[in-house]
Amino acid sequence: MLWLVKLSLQLLDPFWDAGYKGIDFRTQSSLKVGSVLKSDCQTPTATAPSSKLPDYFDTTLGWYAGPTATGPSPWLAQTNAAPFVGVSYIPNTPLETQAPIPGNKHGYNIFERLGHMSPYFPNPRGFGVHEYPVPPGANVTWLNMIHRHGSRYPEVTGNELRLAQKLTDAKGKYQAHGALSFLNDWRNVLGAEILVPVGKQQLFDSGTLHYYQYGHLYPNDGSKIIARTTTQRRMLESAEYFMAGFFGLGWTQNATLELVIESKGFNNTLAGYKGCNRTSWDIGGKTSREWAETYLQDAHQRIRGNITGGLDWTLSDTYSAQTLCAYETVAVGFSHWCNLFTYEEWEAFEYSLDIAFAAGTGFLSPIGRAIGIGYVSEVLARMQHHVLSSPTALINTTLDNNTVTFPTQQALNLDFSHDSNIISILVAFGLTQFAEYLPPTRILPEREFVMAYIEPFAGRLDIEVIQAPAPINPSRSVAVHELYEDGPPTSYVHFVLNQRTVPLGKSLKECGNRDDGWCEMTAFLEVQKVQVEKADFEWACFGDYEMPEYGTVSDGRPPSKE
Ligand SMILES: *[C@@H]1O[C@H](CO)[C@@H](O)[C@H](O)[C@H]1NC(C)=O
Ligand SMILES: *[C@@H]1O[C@H](CO)[C@@H](O)[C@H](O)[C@H]1NC(C)=O
Ligand SMILES: *[C@@H]1O[C@H](CO)[C@@H](O)[C@H](O)[C@H]1NC(C)=O
Ligand SMILES: *[C@@H]1O[C@H](CO)[C@@H](O)[C@H](O)[C@H]1NC(C)=O
Ligand SMILES: *[C@@H]1O[C@H](CO)[C@@H](O)[C@H](O)[C@H]1NC(C)=O
Ligand SMILES: *[C@@H]1O[C@H](CO)[C@@H](O)[C@H](O)[C@H]1NC(C)=O
Ligand SMILES: *[C@@H]1O[C@H](CO)[C@@H](O)[C@H](O)[C@H]1NC(C)=O
Repeated sequence: MLWLVKLSLQLLDPFWDAGYKGIDFRTQSSLKVGSVLKSDCQTPTATAPSSKLPDYFDTTLGWYAGPTATGPSPWLAQTNAAPFVGVSYIPNTPLETQAPIPGNKHGYNIFERLGHMSPYFPNPRGFGVHEYPVPPGANVTWLNMIHRHGSRYPEVTGNELRLAQKLTDAKGKYQAHGALSFLNDWRNVLGAEILVPVGKQQLFDSGTLHYYQYGHLYPNDGSKIIARTTTQRRMLESAEYFMAGFFGLGWTQNATLELVIESKGFNNTLAGYKGCNRTSWDIGGKTSREWAETYLQDAHQRIRGNITGGLDWTLSDTYSAQTLCAYETVAVGFSHWCNLFTYEEWEAFEYSLDIAFAAGTGFLSPIGRAIGIGYVSEVLARMQHHVLSSPTALINTTLDNNTVTFPTQQALNLDFSHDSNIISILVAFGLTQFAEYLPPTRILPEREFVMAYIEPFAGRLDIEVIQAPAPINPSRSVAVHELYEDGPPTSYVHFVLNQRTVPLGKSLKECGNRDDGWCEMTAFLEVQKVQVEKADFEWACFGDYEMPEYGTVSDGRPPSKE
């Protein structure tokens, strides 16, 4: 079969968003792209600010919101096939996820195997170290959070909407049988781009959780903090739901949201890929597709065999059917597509997404570091209490060179962003534990780079500074009276990704081999200076180099200039 290499959507598509558009199996006879939704798409309108507030503090402008199509109201009882034979009734919470998955021997949850489309869950496996308490006398004194938006509808350019359109167009021309019978009455229930109900809940829950963890960092003089998000609708709403969870419905008395414009031509470290002139999604997509062509053959024949009449069901459609399971479940609470696939096919699906992201903006991408480095510079500036005055790497100096819009003394820093951008931030910090090569011919079972563990919907990275009255023993199994070593007060940096510690010493040798995975702040700041240079932003994003083949990049950097 001839698959065309995906064009660089980033350069063509005004709605280009978080980057990954799903595996693109389009051939020359491609379908109408997102035509269902075209009329609902909002183009950015340059409405003049309506109040005296500067535009970046005005959450009512609605500009650069991106597409905002909503779907029909759910009616779960109509679509939900539960309770299933042999399973006693399990109430939906709020999603209906008890559908029997063939081959699922251990009662695993396929909704935790959906890569970046998994609804939030804390990483059950951890990242290689145990979690340790803050010792008596020490204190978490500073937080920098970067949070992904919650579960959403598909993006307008996604293949799942293309399949939905194809099925809608072919209505009445085909008959589906067996497990696929539901298709005879199927209709598209998906909007585009904006949060679905459970996505709102994820952010509210996270705000609540973060208040329990970090409420003490909110200034007790009652002054308002600045929190940053982007102008995109789901980004603004994610921030608002989080704030409602953290502070309560009166949160506007406690926090001011700053909206950084998310659109091509603007600098925005919360959506770095929009300002990079190079993209490697086509490499990730091509490799991911190779893998899909391998693992999907059986499922493809099963589905084709159960359709008669005028519907030309392609392998690409089989893949999109897996993504429809993910999106329909969060949109209306249940999806018939999910139990068409075996547990093994869900594991293989997950792996296809890991490949796409690792090569799209991770360590296997030549721009992996470049996209995230602007944000890393902002974190380092906040840690060291200074503004950023040199315009580099997608930083908007209008905002960052001013303590009104870039406060340098805030202990509670809350930012909102996208999946691929947060992946790049981890790369730019030099967390090479996620750098392993993912072969496109077989699943690497013990890999660290599992999207569902790193960036599910509403995934979040919490960077804490912990102040201690003396150095803390790197061996944490010692008796309490041996916890502190002799020495001056010492600060530590602690990375927490989806509620689990990322052991900094595993990637950054200078951080040492501590049981708790923390890193002395002085060592951390020192090693990060090197990471900023490594990213080589200008060359990576604007250099004239040949895009390297999959597997030849392993450090998130392009081939060097010579
Ligand atoms: C912990 O740090 C916060 C913020 O600096 C401060 O308000 C609080 O008093 C400290 N608590 C302890 C027990 O040191
Ligand atoms: C938010 O600000 C209001 C007004 O200053 C204050 O009464 C309230 O306690 C603050 N909320 C939290 C959670 O600190
Ligand atoms: C920086 O942000 C300001 C405030 O929103 C905006 O007016 C300006 O266009 C932005 N500049 C760039 C290069 O993104
Ligand atoms: C139709 O689907 C069933 C599962 O419902 C499967 O067992 C069967 O093999 C499929 N039929 C054909 C002809 O592929
Ligand atoms: C940053 O702010 C300082 C002080 O206001 C000013 O002198 C400098 O020109 C600014 N730099 C940029 C790049 O805007
Ligand atoms: C935006 O980023 C570019 C490239 O890093 C830089 O040249 C430009 O000055 C930046 N603009 C602002 C307003 O910071
Ligand atoms: C961006 O890439 C295009 C095509 O790859 C090239 O023609 C253009 O000069 C590049 N722009 C910049 C600012 O490097």
